Amino acid sequence: MTKTRRIGLLTTGGDAPGMNPAIRAVVRRALAFGWEVVGIERGFQGLYEKDFREMGHGSVSGIINLGGTVLKTIRCPGFRKADFRRACYRNLEQRGIGSLVVIGGDGSLAASQTLVAEWKHPLAFIPASIDNDISGTTETIGFDTAVNTALEAIDRIRDTATSHERIFLVEVMGREKGFLALEVGLAAGAEAILVPEVPFDLEAIRELLLADRAKGKRSMIMVVAEGAVEVAQLAPRIAEFYPGEVRYSVLGYIQRGGAPSARSRCLALRFGARAVEALAEGRQAVCVGLEKEKVVVVDLKKARKRLKLDRAAYRLAHVLSA
Ligand code: F6P
Repeated sequence: MTKTRRIGLLTTGGDAPGMNPAIRAVVRRALAFGWEVVGIERGFQGLYEKDFREMGHGSVSGIINLGGTVLKTIRCPGFRKADFRRACYRNLEQRGIGSLVVIGGDGSLAASQTLVAEWKHPLAFIPASIDNDISGTTETIGFDTAVNTALEAIDRIRDTATSHERIFLVEVMGREKGFLALEVGLAAGAEAILVPEVPFDLEAIRELLLADRAKGKRSMIMVVAEGAVEVAQLAPRIAEFYPGEVRYSVLGYIQRGGAPSARSRCLALRFGARAVEALAEGRQAVCVGLEKEKVVVVDLKKARKRLKLDRAAYRLAHVLSA
């Protein structure tokens, strides 16, 4: 009689719409293998505090359409301490958990790499973040939903910008990377997109805005990643040279919530099932991802390379809005 596998499942870091469909897929795929699933609430902090709950078929009913994560999540600085991590590994052993599925973003990926090196048990990582900043996949769970949420808000802002003939600076999330800003800026037809990867240049902004105004543009949208510059600081600096009115809006946390889009759900369901299958195949330390629209499994250590912004898309955005 083979020993039933017991896998742990947790979500950690910033939440993303689609985490719940991923949780559902992990649980249902594992149960289909005859395995047991132990949900760990509140990420690594919950692992430290033994916040466990056995998850059966019904525990993931009715969550496919819910934003956020039913397992809750926390940013857990404690995990940086070796004695905190050792307590986590002891708790995993005591609970009989032999493998782990971690759902999270870039910071969680780094923590998972540490965990694998020290705990030395199989781990499958599922990339979920609205930032889309994991190199092991061309798309992270939640990115599509966040793009559409931000786009709907920006389309609304464009209505009032047009009516009042104003420039609007719209700040979107993305502390280190501008993937969200670039995608939604392109889709929104933004006149300018500011990202952390391109050094901030007020003179270039000034030239662009005054040239557009000279061509007759009276309302414009600038999409600004929070890591590029704070719009509350930039707006008054633009108002000093721009002859029209300038306003700004910070979209903030609405980009993290809401019902996951169909694309985010299907990505999550495919990633969740594939993560469990990778463990069944005996893989030790992997990241599930998307490559040319196919679900792939890559070595965990290869999932954290430097990611480059698509400069062609960045240039296109400015050409098309001119
Ligand atoms: O990592 C996702 C993200 O939403 C970033 O875009 C944003 O800068 C950060 O999380 C916000 O972190 P917190 O939720 O801890 O305020």
